[in-house]
Amino acid sequence: MKVSIIGGGGLVGSCAAYALQCGGLANEVALLDVNEELAVGHALDLQHGGPSVSNTVYAGGGYEHIPTSDIICITAGLRRKPDESRLDLINRNTDLFVDILKNVKAAGPKSTAIVLVVSNPVDILTYVAADKLGLPPQQVIGLGTQLDTIRFCSLIAQELKAPASQTKALILGEHGESMVPIWSSATIAGLPLDKYPGWNPSLSSALFTRTRGSGAEVISRKGGAGFAVGIAIRDCIDAIILDTQSVLPVSSIQNGCYGIRDVALSVPTVLGRTGVQATMEIDLWPKEVQGLVQSGAALRKTLDTVMQRVG
Ligand SMILES: NC(=O)c1ccc[n+]([C@@H]2O[C@H](COP(=O)([O-])OP(=O)(O)OC[C@H]3O[C@@H](n4cnc5c(N)ncnc54)[C@H](O)[C@@H]3O)[C@@H](O)[C@H]2O)c1
Repeated sequence: MKVSIIGGGGLVGSCAAYALQCGGLANEVALLDVNEELAVGHALDLQHGGPSVSNTVYAGGGYEHIPTSDIICITAGLRRKPDESRLDLINRNTDLFVDILKNVKAAGPKSTAIVLVVSNPVDILTYVAADKLGLPPQQVIGLGTQLDTIRFCSLIAQELKAPASQTKALILGEHGESMVPIWSSATIAGLPLDKYPGWNPSLSSALFTRTRGSGAEVISRKGGAGFAVGIAIRDCIDAIILDTQSVLPVSSIQNGCYGIRDVALSVPTVLGRTGVQATMEIDLWPKEVQGLVQSGAALRKTLDTVMQRVG
C-alpha cells in the first residue's frame, strides 16, 4: 500500500516516515511538503537505508502522489509554542489545513483512501477534514490520544520500573487539555495496576499531569515531538495496512458513543483496512465517562467557532 505524508519534510512527518521504514509494511512512502527540496532530501535519505530493511519505495514531491495513495497522512502545520495551548493554535492552523484539503480533493484521492490527520488541534481538524473531503466519515481518522496513551504507559512503566510493553493504560477524549486518563482498566502484565508493587494512589495525579504536559515538555526541551509521534502514527497505519482490527484510541466523528455526538474525539476504536470499523462503549468509571462528555462539550464549543470560520 502507498502512504503519502503531507508535511513529510517536517519533524513529525519525517519521523513517521522513518518509523514506517523500520516497520517495512508500506510498499511506497511519498513525502509531500511546500518545502519540496526538503521532502525530496528526506526521501533520498530513507531510500539509502532501504536495502537493509525492506523494498519500500520512497519519493518526495507534491499532490501528484495523491491519486495513487491508499493512506494520506497530514502532518503539515505550525508547531505549538511552549506556552500555547493546542486550541490556541487553531486560528493559525485552520486556514493552512483547509487549503491542504482543497488540494487533496482537487488531486482526486481514491474513493477508498484513508486520511489520518495528525496536525493540531487534531480533533478539530479531523472534524474539518471529514466535513470537507467528501469521503465516508469512517475513512477520516485523527491520531487522537494514541500518542498520549503511549506516553502515559511509558511514564507509568518508568515510575514502577515495570516493562513498558506490558504496561497498558489508556487516555481517551481530546488530544489536549481535557484528555481523560482511564485508570479503571489500567494493567501491567495483565495484572491490575493498583496491585502492582510500588503503586500508590498518590502517584496517579502526578503521572497524569506529566502525561498531559508531555507535549509542552518535549517542545521546551527539543523544539517539538518526533520519535514517539512517529511511532504512534505507525501504530495506526500498520493497523490499516494489515487490517488488524486493533482497538486504538484514535479520533473520529462520534455518533452516540458514551452519549457523544457531532465532534471528533478518541474512544476505543476498531481500526482496519477501511478505517473505523466500530467504536466500543465499554463500561468505565462514571467520572471517566463524565470526563469524556466534558471533553466533547469543550471541543464542540471550539468547533462552533471554527465551522463558522471555514464555512
Ligand atoms: N496529533 C499529535 O499527537 C501531534 C503530535 C506532535 C505534533 N503534532 C502536530 O503536527 C504538526 C507538525 O509538527 P512538526 O513538528 O512536524 O512541524 P514542522 O514545522 O517540523 O513541520 C511542518 C511541515 O509542514 C510543512 N508545511 C507547511 N505548510 C504546508 C502546506 N500548505 N503543504 C504542505 N506542507 C506544508 C512545512 O514546510 C514543514 O516541513 C503540528 O501541527 C503539530 O502541532 C501533532
